[in-house]
Amino acid sequence: MMLPQRVGPVCHVLVLVLCLSAAEDFDWSANNHDSFYYGTFPNGFSWGAGGSAYQTEGAWDKDGKGLSIWDVFTHKKGKTFLNDTGDSSCDGYYKIKDDISLMKEMNLNHYRFSISWPRIMPTGIRYYDVLIDELLENKITPIVTLYHWDLPQVLQEKYGGWQNISMINYFNDFANLCFERYGDRVKHWITFNNPWSVAVEGYETGEHAPGLKLRGTGAYRAAHHIIKAHAKVWHTYDSQWRSKQKGMVGISLSGDWGEPVDITNQKDIEAAERYVQFYIGWFATPIFHGDYPQVMKDFIGRKSALQGLGTSRLPTFSSQEKSYIKGTSDFLGVGHFTTRYITQKSYPSNRGTTYFSDRDVAELVDPRWPDPGSEWLYSVPWGFRRLLNFMKTHYGNPMIYITENGVSEKMMCTELCDDWRIKYYKDYINEMLKAIRDGVNVKGYTAWSLLDKFEWDEGYSERFGLYYVDFRNQNKPRYPKASVQFYKRIIQSNGFPGQREVETWKRKATETCSTSNQLLAADPLTSHMEMVTEVVVPTVCTLCILISAVFLMFLLRKRN
Ligand code: NOJ
Repeated sequence: MMLPQRVGPVCHVLVLVLCLSAAEDFDWSANNHDSFYYGTFPNGFSWGAGGSAYQTEGAWDKDGKGLSIWDVFTHKKGKTFLNDTGDSSCDGYYKIKDDISLMKEMNLNHYRFSISWPRIMPTGIRYYDVLIDELLENKITPIVTLYHWDLPQVLQEKYGGWQNISMINYFNDFANLCFERYGDRVKHWITFNNPWSVAVEGYETGEHAPGLKLRGTGAYRAAHHIIKAHAKVWHTYDSQWRSKQKGMVGISLSGDWGEPVDITNQKDIEAAERYVQFYIGWFATPIFHGDYPQVMKDFIGRKSALQGLGTSRLPTFSSQEKSYIKGTSDFLGVGHFTTRYITQKSYPSNRGTTYFSDRDVAELVDPRWPDPGSEWLYSVPWGFRRLLNFMKTHYGNPMIYITENGVSEKMMCTELCDDWRIKYYKDYINEMLKAIRDGVNVKGYTAWSLLDKFEWDEGYSERFGLYYVDFRNQNKPRYPKASVQFYKRIIQSNGFPGQREVETWKRKATETCSTSNQLLAADPLTSHMEMVTEVVVPTVCTLCILISAVFLMFLLRKRN
């Protein structure tokens, strides 16, 4: 049906007015933290779970795989909790079918994983073919990250990794190969996962591979090359593959929300904004607007001048580069876990400058916020809605996929009845629903993570999984936590139909988990039994045969 000629423009104006009023709707001063909204997500909303290559695959040296910076980093003593490594991790490399059946159990629409660069170059390209084919056969959309931190070690040794501009072309070659090989089937590409961590933890604090402590400069330089590499890969897809493959290329940025300690204090408001700009804005502003946030340029520039440096420690983009980088994200991936209260704090520049002191902020937490697992992860669901609205306002309401959101639990806990995780998911997903009602364009949600897995410098001490993995058992069995059942219900109903239903889901989910708990408790016994059958029995039998043979020989000799 066609619109009558004169109604067209009227409608456009109407739509525009509606959009503008929706954009202004969000009330930043409202404090409705505890309300719950019952309702459903838009049709076609995509529900998923995720993981990454180094954290889950294991098989670190199998089938010709090269070394990554994480293989080398974790093999040095003292870099991770209890010197844990990802050498075998969940053995996901051998368990494609098993893990896909776990996804089917929850009716996931998508699965987010990453491709290990040193695995596919030179020989491991087939593994991901099988994984992608199996996912598609099971009607699960693959969302593929090209860089989830495992740079080939050879590029680190030869060039200094992301400190070096030549990484841009190497990464582009790798991405191009992935588009060529998998792009007929993969339509959602993420160039970088959480580049903030790569830059700050890899090149500033050294807590992550490659473990460099180039304070005040390393992170900015690494980020600069990552942003350019992202843009180049987007252009490669755009010019060479998009028309044939019809997919999308985005980036996944992770960041905490920063809330002013006192929302009536202008200094706190500015400090909180700065906190978010130094986190997400550092990458999002160049990609959506062509240059670094003004506040980063001002602060780092001023502090560099105070140090007596001729130029800012924050690198600059040429005007050509700015227009090349601007607009290079078909969607924005968002990883989010927690929130901080922020206040202004000045750091004197004579005590050494770092990324952290450049921001002039102090972070605070409310002691009442629950923190069941990782020490940095407080559950503050309302921060999620605010962060999403910030993105809508600052980056022109982009299409958003939540690429990571979830919560961990403390190390020795073998508890499958994870009611705090149920609460975390319930409240965070609800805040995302509210954000969608505010007009934020969120298309999909990825629970982080499908499995318990290697948690970087924290080793296996922090478990983020919906499924518990028994790392003590060499078969790495997976057990569903109660949150699996709860998440499955949200997916089935595409949201939260009503209070009674949601309470029933929670009750039922926690009822079933006690049976699985018993299975898990029996597991050490099972592994013990396996040891008995696999090692002790054959050894004893061989010994018996040997002793009998010697005894027989002895008898025969005596007779003669
Ligand atoms: C973000 C990282 O991308 C992911 O690999 C990690 O598991 C989560 N943070 C939780 O720490």
